[in-house]
Amino acid sequence: MSELLSYHPEAALAVLPGGLSRDLARALESARQDTLNDVEIWQSGQIPQDREPLDAGFIQWPEELLADLQLHGSASLVARLNTCGARLRDQADSLVVLGIGGSYMGMRAMSESLRSPFWNELSREQRNGCPRLYFEGWNVDTDNQRALLQLLQNRAEQSGQTPEGRTAVIVISKSGGTLETAVAFRLFRDLIEASSAAAARDLIVPVTGLQGRLRSLAEASGWSDAFTIPDGIGGRFSVLTPVGLLPAAASGMNITALLQGAAAMTEHFRTAPFESNVVLQYVAVGHAFEQKCGATTRILSTWGSRLEAVGLWYDQLLSESLGKHERGATPLTVVNTRDLHSRGQQHQEGRRDKLITNLLPGVSSQDSLQVPPHRHDQDQLNRLAGTSLQKILQAAIDGTNQAYADDRRPTADIRLPLLNEHVLGQLFQMLMLATVVEGRLVGTNPYGQPGVEAYKKNMQANLGL
Ligand code: PA5
Repeated sequence: MSELLSYHPEAALAVLPGGLSRDLARALESARQDTLNDVEIWQSGQIPQDREPLDAGFIQWPEELLADLQLHGSASLVARLNTCGARLRDQADSLVVLGIGGSYMGMRAMSESLRSPFWNELSREQRNGCPRLYFEGWNVDTDNQRALLQLLQNRAEQSGQTPEGRTAVIVISKSGGTLETAVAFRLFRDLIEASSAAAARDLIVPVTGLQGRLRSLAEASGWSDAFTIPDGIGGRFSVLTPVGLLPAAASGMNITALLQGAAAMTEHFRTAPFESNVVLQYVAVGHAFEQKCGATTRILSTWGSRLEAVGLWYDQLLSESLGKHERGATPLTVVNTRDLHSRGQQHQEGRRDKLITNLLPGVSSQDSLQVPPHRHDQDQLNRLAGTSLQKILQAAIDGTNQAYADDRRPTADIRLPLLNEHVLGQLFQMLMLATVVEGRLVGTNPYGQPGVEAYKKNMQANLGL
């Protein structure tokens, strides 16, 4: 097990007028209690109208799944996900995950954080027998989908009915009716069934709610496996349900460690006092800067491309949960040092409406590259010969934070001890809990996304559906 991630708001607090007040600490204690009480209210099935919708099931879900694993072993959900994941791995070398919003962003975050950025270009052996991974169904984009269908078709023609030629599809939709995903599924289903209707039974796996069109399709189609997204866990809170866990298992990730990391964070959230509670401190700082300094833009500054998709997952979580009633901070993910050369100017000298949180990936699992010496030293880099890229990056991180501090621009750090499944599980759970706590603090129901329905309704009407 990895140590717990940590949160360091000292540099931000140094420029917060009056610091964090006792009143805010008390209000957050009460929001923590509300968040935990939600679990019991939800479990009781007696949800008062002013609490609807209530999707608090994600809070205790990792603990429930781990208990189920301990109690039921090979009959547990974790074991069934691992078995199905192993089957998909063995039978297919390309895996397409179809989903949109909460039904794909978490898996994308895991894939980009934990795998080689050139994963799909590695040989099957270099990928330890795990499939290439593609995400679709998150747009209506002929160019992308045609190109992917063609690529997979070519692979099927070259390698026939071998794992190298086969594609598996995990289609994910809680409602089962999201048009983007459903349309993409038709196209990819055709591709798979065209190669072998019998093989398709094993190569298509739906992950969906208990009811809806995809559930009905699953019941009618006789696919070997189907997984359920439990009631009481909303899309953007579902990364640790089969939504994220099945593709993670198929990709050879340790899903038990993901759950253990999340469970450790829930326990920390429940028990740690305000002063050392990473969830409560994170919410306190964001809220205090918004209230006292008008910092309505929250920048998640990821250092290294691996964490960009985690940031995009968080952008969705915060926007859909708290962007309601003409309120809610605007999240924005940047990747540094790339974006120091685009947004950096504005963050350094633009409006004072930003709180910057660095997301630091910790010790690199690989030995860092070093600057090589060269006999042509016109670029004058021989003085850095032998210096690791890690050290150069650290100089950029420190230099950037110093520049912000010199101009009294607030920064805080989320420091990850390293990047693995356990730590990602912690981070997901921390940010989901923080989002709910902030909602309870400001009186915004963090669950549901009524605003998203408007475009869906219009789109369907435009199509005569
Ligand atoms: O957070 C949410 O609930 C949404 O982002 C959904 O995940 C997204 O709209 C996809 O919905 P569905 O899984 O029903 O296709």
